[in-house]
Amino acid sequence: MMSAASPGARNPTPGSVLDPRDWDAYRELLHQAVEALVSHARARAAAPVWQPVPAELLDSLAGPIPQSPREAAEVFDEFRRLILPYSVGNTHPRFFGWVHGTGLASGLTALLAEATMNANCGGREHAAIHVERAVLRWFRDLFGMPETTSGILLSGTSMANLVSLAVARERALRQDSHVNRGELLARLRVYASSEVHGSIQKSARLLGFSPEALRLVAVDAACRLRVEELESAIAADQKAGLVPAVILGTAGTVRTGAIDPLADLAGVAAKAGAWFHVDGAFGALGVLAPSLAPKLAGLSQADSIAFDFHKWMFVQYAVGCALIRDGALHRATFASPADYLRREQRGTGAGADWPCDFGPELSRPFLALRIWFALEEHGIQRFSEAIERNVALAAHLARRIEEHPAELELGNAPETCVVCFRYANRRAGGADWDAVNTAIAVGLQEDGVAVLSMVRLNEAMMLRAAITNHRTSFDDIDLLVAETVRRGRRLAG
Ligand SMILES: Cc1ncc(COP(=O)(O)O)c(C=O)c1O
Repeated sequence: MMSAASPGARNPTPGSVLDPRDWDAYRELLHQAVEALVSHARARAAAPVWQPVPAELLDSLAGPIPQSPREAAEVFDEFRRLILPYSVGNTHPRFFGWVHGTGLASGLTALLAEATMNANCGGREHAAIHVERAVLRWFRDLFGMPETTSGILLSGTSMANLVSLAVARERALRQDSHVNRGELLARLRVYASSEVHGSIQKSARLLGFSPEALRLVAVDAACRLRVEELESAIAADQKAGLVPAVILGTAGTVRTGAIDPLADLAGVAAKAGAWFHVDGAFGALGVLAPSLAPKLAGLSQADSIAFDFHKWMFVQYAVGCALIRDGALHRATFASPADYLRREQRGTGAGADWPCDFGPELSRPFLALRIWFALEEHGIQRFSEAIERNVALAAHLARRIEEHPAELELGNAPETCVVCFRYANRRAGGADWDAVNTAIAVGLQEDGVAVLSMVRLNEAMMLRAAITNHRTSFDDIDLLVAETVRRGRRLAG
């Protein structure tokens, strides 16, 4: 117990300049901010999906670093007027660009709670560390990975791919202790389909793999990696003295949402003595959708899985995850002894395994709290329903496109939630359809109707909808199709 005479009993910060002078007034301000933010979230669908950033914001940001304090209420009003309405649009039901998640209402509570705790989750003994462990265990079990599996929450799948490939590289380098590490590294090869995400190229470069290490294997008509081509590439490389280190399957490719034949890839990896990594940025959580789960059965055989909570679990940015089957090797890849991080038997510095032993970061936010809030509030079943509904919406969009054979072309039969299509009026002859479709996408964005991104598929620029959006309705999809046709007709003259 602290006595009244101890130094700690004195208020060490009477009037600390960075805390509110009046906490009651601050509480009132926060109430008003919550009121404004919840009203914004509730009315989001009625506002434009996207609108250009106003010149007034750019002017105000062009000034020098702010020197003197301002009233907090005034600052919030400026945020509300100049920043809040000009988001990328992913909280709106008709945002379908790239692969963005929507964000959950439960996330507002979670992020306020996160900010209040301001936990540093690099390690130490506190509640946040145990919440993160629980989240990792829940998803390890969901993917059917064994108890030896370790994991780490990261800012997204780009980072989770990097961490997974770092462990894979470590395993490959440890397999032959007689060879110089640099020499062996130069011979390691990583196999993935030509549809692999760009974060893999980045990771391979950062991890010092040779520029020729990434072997891009051809895909079939459904954009899935061709297993026979993979086997021939491996055989040729082995013959040339190269070492197949990693076989990478994608569960939900970024361009068309295809799922590679994961179980077959697991078999090929086992035969070649290679690590089997799955980039499941959005698709891995398809295990929650009864219609997709059978295609993802091979996930449980992966040596590592990278996936995002901020995509198909709709949790606020930015939180992804790497799960690694061989937890001991995962720890050995990243843990580094430092006396200032020593582990005690008791107290705040206790605990054998800290998150900083499993990834490149030391200071880390309490990312697990937004997942905990989401799951405690909704239960996993609601996420299954939301994902399955996105799959149904993608199938509906594909059907609606096929109802306009004279004007719309479907680029891919959607396997998950990504649909590529374009406007191309057969009767209009040789129009520049790439330009027309680009103009359709830009027009939909600038008029605040919908956000689609673009992709080049089968030699044509296609409109691309990735429906990782729990707010989208079937009417939103119908409106998207009607607007595409209307704009296409106008642009095609
Ligand atoms: C297949 C795939 N892998 C990796 C990533 C990168 O994920 P993140 O943006 O969370 O880093 C994406 C992003 O869309 C993706 O679709």
